[in-house]
Amino acid sequence: MEAFLREVQEVVKRYPQKRAAILPALYLAEQRFGWLSQEAYEAVAEALNMPKATVKGVATFYSMYRKAPMGRNLIQLCTNVACMVMGAETLLQLLERRYGLRPGGTTEDGRFSLVVMECIGACDRAPAMLVNKDFHPNLNENNIIEILEGYS
Ligand code: FES
Repeated sequence: MEAFLREVQEVVKRYPQKRAAILPALYLAEQRFGWLSQEAYEAVAEALNMPKATVKGVATFYSMYRKAPMGRNLIQLCTNVACMVMGAETLLQLLERRYGLRPGGTTEDGRFSLVVMECIGACDRAPAMLVNKDFHPNLNENNIIEILEGYS
């Protein structure tokens, strides 16, 4: 907890007001706790000296934060127009067949969680996904499984 408070305090220094650091502080909490649990909200509230309800209110406004426990690897598959035209729907079906994985779900073994994204800025290399922080463009039914098998 001490280390987390120090990390947040470092981030706070970059902003004119503590309150402005709430989004990066939530991101740090997500990294530290794995998701935004009650414990994570409390830690951010303490670090920024603001009510937990305020912290939680901000977090719930943004869909990008993890508000439930996730698998060890987070797949963020783009399903916006360019990716959908280039086969994202087929890839979603494949992920369900292969791993029993649906958007918003996690595999039984906790290996993968899947969320669908609204454009990750790689329309010219669609369909594309992120796995954790790794970017994977030009996906198809063959290479997506090969890529995912590299994550344990
Ligand atoms: S629509 Fe998928 S990256 Fe833009």
